[in-house]
Amino acid sequence: MTMLDRLETLYQQASAELAQIASSEALADWERRVIGRKGEVTLLLRQTGQLPPEERAAFGKRANEIKALLSEAFARREEEIREQELARSMEEGQVDVTLPGRKVARGRLHPATQTLREVYAIWAEMGFQVYRSRDVETDEVNFGLLNMPPYHPARDMWDTFYTTEPGVILRTHTSPGQIHAMREYGENGTKPIRVILPGMCYRYEQITARSEVQFHQVEGLAIGRGIRMTDLKGTLTEFARRMYGAERRLRFRASHFPFTEPSAEVDVDCILCGGAGCNVCKYSGWLEIAGCGMVHPVVLRNGGYDPTVWSGFAFGMGPERITMLKHGIRDIRYFWGNDLRFLNQF
Ligand code: PHE
Repeated sequence: MTMLDRLETLYQQASAELAQIASSEALADWERRVIGRKGEVTLLLRQTGQLPPEERAAFGKRANEIKALLSEAFARREEEIREQELARSMEEGQVDVTLPGRKVARGRLHPATQTLREVYAIWAEMGFQVYRSRDVETDEVNFGLLNMPPYHPARDMWDTFYTTEPGVILRTHTSPGQIHAMREYGENGTKPIRVILPGMCYRYEQITARSEVQFHQVEGLAIGRGIRMTDLKGTLTEFARRMYGAERRLRFRASHFPFTEPSAEVDVDCILCGGAGCNVCKYSGWLEIAGCGMVHPVVLRNGGYDPTVWSGFAFGMGPERITMLKHGIRDIRYFWGNDLRFLNQF
């Protein structure tokens, strides 16, 4: 077989093979074997010099022609295969828009946070600003400046977590925030104040369905000239009506806190039975929602105010209790138990 014959046969075979190729991998392989730098056509071209001189020109011309033809055929095939592969991948990846979508896992707010936000919104409408006070307190601010010097028997009302640092405790209530707010915003007892102080409180108590070692309180504090007990009663009544419904009635029972005088406990008529008596209000018709009172003169002075000129009221409420009543949650331990079966319900 002459070299020219070999060239023509190679051309026929390579063309036939190219027409059969269906994948880009096989195509790349063909390119390498036939028209690549070490491909068969190229190798044949290099052998031109072995031909008798008179045949070289014709052979070289035809070999270059064939190489060009095969290169063109290769480019066309490459384009076709690319289109086929694209069509196939579009076919395979087709989206069935009639299938139901995958559910997005949605995070949600903790029920305590939901209640807190509701409480903030109501107090905000009534002109109370949120003030954040520290969780880690000193014995002095948590008790001493609130009119409970060391060894005062009233300290027993709050079972306290002490730290290894003498004088540093976890706050047992949000009331120490009253001192911080008065000192920070009162400008040496010259400016009125209207704030709420929400936050976590800690008590060294037996954990039961009704008591936890941590819980939120929302403290309220209003300081001004001529603030009276009637302002306290009216303000808390308005809050309760916005929170629990316009028909709610409030009851103030005389009580005692060392940092308020006079002091009271506040009950709302049962939000479930309306006062008729049910197992939530233990057939009393009333639910306790807050402790409150007029800020004690000693506390006013510790906050920088002259108690002969300034007066104020304060209250503290427990939002977890509010949430439990609202949703019929029977055990407070659910709140910080991190059980998704509980949390998913809100
Ligand atoms: N700090 C009190 C408690 O934890 C509640 C309270 C706040 C009472 C403000 C009066 C005024 O029980």
